[in-house]
Amino acid sequence: MNRAETASSAAAALTDSRLAALCAEAAQHAFANYQGRFDEITRRARERFLAHDLKGSYADSAERLHLYGHVLANLTTQITDLMGPRLRERNVWTAIKAVYSSFVAQSRAWEIGESFFNSLTRRVFATEGVDQAIEFVDSDFDAPPTSSRLDVRRIYSGAALAELISAALTDSEAGGFAAERWNELGVSVRLAAERVEAEFPGAGQRDSSKVRLEMINRAFYRGGGAYLVGRAIRDGGDGVRLPLAFCLRHEDERGITLDAVLFGEADLSILFSYTRAYFRVNADCPHALVHSLRQLMPLKRLADLYNEIGFNRHAKTEFYRDFVAQLNASSDRFKTAEGTPGMVMLVFTLPSYDVVFKMIKDRFDLPKDTTPNEVMRRYKLVFEHDRAGRLVEAHEFEHLRIPRNRFEPALLEDLLRAAGKTVRLEGDAVVIAHAYVERRIRPLNIFFAEADATQSVAAARDYGQAIKDLAVSNIFPGDVLTKNFGVTRRGRVVFYDYDELCFLTDCNFRDLPQATTYEEEISAEPWFSVRANDVFPEEFPNFLSLPGSARAALLEQHADLFHPDFWRSVQRKLREGKILEVFPYRPERRLVIAN
Ligand SMILES: Nc1ncnc2c1ncn2[C@@H]1O[C@H](COP(=O)(O)OP(=O)(O)OP(=O)(O)O)[C@@H](O)[C@H]1O
Ligand SMILES: [Mg+2]
Repeated sequence: MNRAETASSAAAALTDSRLAALCAEAAQHAFANYQGRFDEITRRARERFLAHDLKGSYADSAERLHLYGHVLANLTTQITDLMGPRLRERNVWTAIKAVYSSFVAQSRAWEIGESFFNSLTRRVFATEGVDQAIEFVDSDFDAPPTSSRLDVRRIYSGAALAELISAALTDSEAGGFAAERWNELGVSVRLAAERVEAEFPGAGQRDSSKVRLEMINRAFYRGGGAYLVGRAIRDGGDGVRLPLAFCLRHEDERGITLDAVLFGEADLSILFSYTRAYFRVNADCPHALVHSLRQLMPLKRLADLYNEIGFNRHAKTEFYRDFVAQLNASSDRFKTAEGTPGMVMLVFTLPSYDVVFKMIKDRFDLPKDTTPNEVMRRYKLVFEHDRAGRLVEAHEFEHLRIPRNRFEPALLEDLLRAAGKTVRLEGDAVVIAHAYVERRIRPLNIFFAEADATQSVAAARDYGQAIKDLAVSNIFPGDVLTKNFGVTRRGRVVFYDYDELCFLTDCNFRDLPQATTYEEEISAEPWFSVRANDVFPEEFPNFLSLPGSARAALLEQHADLFHPDFWRSVQRKLREGKILEVFPYRPERRLVIAN
């Protein structure tokens, strides 16, 4: 007998409950394996930071992104072998789910465990939509199931603010680093305390010894940075709570420096943005961690916060629950997203919900000559790459089912006509085989049409900065038109159109050849030969339609963008292996320390 035959005869001989128990055990082991390896990579973040090993830090991030898929693929094979011909027997799966649920009830990461199980069932029952009998569509638990609920906060109080900050930064039990590892700790702490005091409303008039710090007791690592996050609370009358983050860097042998202090929900949201790579942080109890973060950033969805700490698959479960709740609580209809329609993507949105759904069209408008697989490859590249605060994260969803009466008829017609390979009607439902879901932002071309001169100038400058930030992270957007950028609710300019995006080091930045004859000069077509990866930065201004003052501000502040030298010098640095990191905060948040 071959392997499949052995499996099928073994499965046939087992009772339902015995088979279910074996499968649930296999799933539990796989989940434990995933968790163990996830934690191991995460724990390395501290060592990488102490060794100022930036390359290692990026390598760990990449490794962790792929872990889930690898573990799940092995588990799927194992379950397929165990169940043989009974693979799709729903009553067995209902029993597997029940046994597995009692396993994950013991775990501090039960919700991650539930999503892990959902990933498994969705692999087995690929196209059949969600089903509470065999999936954790809703969690089995309304509140944490274990008695061992963890408090992830640590309080520092009863001293002057500078001493509290010093205590938090050096508390190695709670994510900090012992005093001897620091460079100029005393100076940094004094500066930081001054900044915190100045940020409190009515600063200076009150007694700063009434302030306490409530910090999350672990560090958040990303790239070359470590971040200690929490809030300062002024006791007594007003009880003002000020969210804050201490941004640590460790670039050389001189030791760790406090590079910046961030304040308020806006700063923290930019740090925890959907346009950046995930943090590595000890998440032995994700629920507690996420809920503490939410106290600091109440506008963020649970899905976003799970995502930011590396649980992007569970974030999808949370997103889906939130989305269904929104559908039930609203009555508006999906319609085409505002802005210039895509030649490659069909984009629609529910006005009352701030995300867009992007589907790949069956056929692309001219002059696009790419393929659906190629488009997906570029979106995947963005998922795996450092997004540098400028690339919107696109979550992939499969087999989404949305009530048909929630679509505007014109949109539904468009979907069926232009993306008939991906969309189908099934009774009262519209079923979408594949879509990217991402945050809705204001397309930059629309923003410029609506904004006043001051807002336009600020956006134009940040648009140039966005292109530069992408450049140092080795990304060339491909298409720099304003219709492909948008403005976030925090006023940042970010990019969302990935079908032409590529690595900067793969581009050939060329000087524009000078015409030597009259015919060359008046020619409408290029008279010199151009290859696919050639880019002529001197031509960019011809494509930019911006209001006058905004255009002038862009050309003035970012003049270098329009010359190939800038691009070639970034390429050189990238090729020399220099990783140029983009900080997740505004320059004025940095503490300048004279060495
Ligand atoms: N995240 C978003 N938030 C708001 N609107 C968006 C978002 N993503 C896309 N859009 C809207 O949908 C349109 C098409 O999206 P996108 O640019 O990604 O598609 P495309 O087919 O790749 O475009 P192109 O034809 O420029 O290559 C955009 O011009 C914009 O108006
Ligand atoms: Mg576009």
